[in-house]
Amino acid sequence: MPAREFDPATVLFVPEMSALAKAFCTSPPYRAFARRVLVPWCLQGVRPTGEALEIGTGSGAMATQLLSAHPDLRLVATDYDPDMVRVASASLARFGDRAVVEQADATALPFEDGRFDLVLSFAMLHHVVEWEKALAEAVRVLRPGGRLVGYDLLDSALFRLLHQREGHGTRLMQPGELETKLKDLLVTEPHTRHAASGLLVRFQASKAA
Ligand SMILES: C[S@@+](CC[C@H](N)C(=O)[O-])C[C@H]1O[C@@H](n2cnc3c(N)ncnc32)[C@H](O)[C@@H]1O
Repeated sequence: MPAREFDPATVLFVPEMSALAKAFCTSPPYRAFARRVLVPWCLQGVRPTGEALEIGTGSGAMATQLLSAHPDLRLVATDYDPDMVRVASASLARFGDRAVVEQADATALPFEDGRFDLVLSFAMLHHVVEWEKALAEAVRVLRPGGRLVGYDLLDSALFRLLHQREGHGTRLMQPGELETKLKDLLVTEPHTRHAASGLLVRFQASKAA
């Protein structure tokens, strides 16, 4: 399938995060937490190499840590929201041509099939109403044997409360939904692990050869 250009007119409804959520995701304490705790926890032992794609990069907090810790990694960081693309571009500028930041909708990625060695998705699928499409796109752009790695929030009273300002812009996954969707895709070894008393799910899978 040929790469698609990003065309905002074709996106029916991709809601933005609330101003509060954007402020949190770009705050120094969150960035420090992402660097020290979230990145190693999310990687689940996977060593990132080659060319990676991050969907929904937000402020680029996770990308910054990945590029700092893995000097041979190249990363394309994408987000739908132009505000976040601006923030991430500033955060990742110091990595020169190892980092590219682009505006892209995770449900219609503008990249050819099989381009990436690794696709990363950190706490973003619950912001995508059609998250199944984003997952399918992530697998499409992986090379055979490439890995999908990420984590997300599961449906709970706590996260419903925290996202109530975003209303219909979020769709928290039910336990088991991610596992079912991964089984439908061209992946081997789909693996999920629940954490934080069932509030979070980490996942990884390899693209089938
Ligand atoms: C909670 S933030 C997580 C940011 C980052 N991954 C992290 O862990 O720090 C979710 C991000 O997903 C982005 N997003 C939401 N829907 C998207 C879509 N359809 N395509 C790409 N990015 C999207 C939002 O703009 C936001 O920056």
